[in-house]
Amino acid sequence: MAKIKSVYICSECGYESPKWFGKCPGCGEWNTMNEEIKNTVKSVSASKTINTKHSFPKNITEISMEDEVRFDTGFCELNRVLGGGIVKGSLILLGGDPGIGKSTILMQICHKLTDIKILYVSGEESLRQLKLRANRLGVNNDNLLLMTETDVEIITEQINSIKPDLVMIDSIQTMTLSELTSSAGSITQVRECTNVIMRSAKGLDIPVIVVGHVNKEGSIAGPKVLEHIVDTVLYFEGDKQMSCRILRAVKNRYGSTNEIGVFEMTDKGLTEVENPSQMLLSGRPTNVSGTCVTCSLEGTRPILAEVQGLVTQSGYGNPRRMCTGFDYNRLALLIAVLEKRAGYYLSNYDAYVNIVGGFRIDERAADLAICMALISSLKDVKISDYAIAFGEIGLAGEIRSVSQVQQRINEAVRLGFTKIVIPYHNAKSIDNQGVDVIGVKNIRQAFEVLID
Ligand code: TYD
Ligand code: MG
Repeated sequence: MAKIKSVYICSECGYESPKWFGKCPGCGEWNTMNEEIKNTVKSVSASKTINTKHSFPKNITEISMEDEVRFDTGFCELNRVLGGGIVKGSLILLGGDPGIGKSTILMQICHKLTDIKILYVSGEESLRQLKLRANRLGVNNDNLLLMTETDVEIITEQINSIKPDLVMIDSIQTMTLSELTSSAGSITQVRECTNVIMRSAKGLDIPVIVVGHVNKEGSIAGPKVLEHIVDTVLYFEGDKQMSCRILRAVKNRYGSTNEIGVFEMTDKGLTEVENPSQMLLSGRPTNVSGTCVTCSLEGTRPILAEVQGLVTQSGYGNPRRMCTGFDYNRLALLIAVLEKRAGYYLSNYDAYVNIVGGFRIDERAADLAICMALISSLKDVKISDYAIAFGEIGLAGEIRSVSQVQQRINEAVRLGFTKIVIPYHNAKSIDNQGVDVIGVKNIRQAFEVLID
């Protein structure tokens, strides 16, 4: 009788070891090593190879570009994130928190793509539930095939016999391969199921969208390993309390990873937001201190967002710093610069920063607006409602130049801003479009020009 061997696999990076570790030697994470029964994992995936064509090198000039046919998904926002549409034969992983709208967007894509055959496999909902959702979203597509199945072998059999033009798997954590003894959702199952589906689909040149759940750390459960296998990784982000949803590409073999798609969840499903700046700025308080508008560049698109700061007397010895939608460590650094270089003392004050609308800014160009919102709240002096500021702040308190200034200015002017505060070095060769564009060198100077 074959001896059952167990193996410990890290749920973060997939590191395998015959013995348990508290800290994974592969990625350094704690408590991520899980016991699984060792199978002949390699042979499972190898036996599923559909594509048995011999490969040989080809001259680059002989490769026809027709190989990269893209489907228009019907959503401009999604097309942009994908780099122009779904590439034939590609494997797309769609991740996001539960209830964020992954199944909804897949169903809506089915509605838009009526002239191709789509196979939607769900391991989470019954056919009736799928039909109910489809009805709710007004999906009406004769070419849509629904299937509830969790056995990957049956799914690949169906893919081979139906030969659909697009396959959707919702979700990979519910799929199982019967050869493997570990439970659905374990790292081995997730990895091998993806491998098997990928080999089957790539052999037939069928694109596949795979839904993946996100674990509590925010990465796709079973994850780094998966991210290496697939061609494109998309994340659906957003605050569930808010209706704004942002689709972001984390990896894309067929396009840029900087682009974002903005959607809004309504009672009729997800709708595209063509004018995100306007949505993020709607309902902005006027005539109050502690708020400043900034412009962040997401891919090729400038997006305006409101930064709010609140500075209050600290009740305890240790002042609190909190921020939503911005990097906490960057906030701490900016506060240090405010104290040391600009003379705004915050060590006896709690400081809170919020980017309104559930939006997240990772760009350095937001530094200036964060500082301005904090100073405005500290001094209780309001910043002009028609002013906007952007610029990176250096450790010496200087305002450093940022990229694509003209595009940011154009967007601000389009939304009716009349005073634009930018880094001094950027102010030389720009078209001010008839509004006040002021180049500033340091934090104090920026605040002086921003107040009425
Ligand atoms: P869903 O797509 O099921 O989430 P996921 O597959 O990512 O887990 O989205 C479910 C959420 O979306 C649920 O909270 C209700 C909301 N929703 C709407 O607001 N409007 C709609 O038309 C639909 C279908 C869902
Ligand atoms: Mg779902």
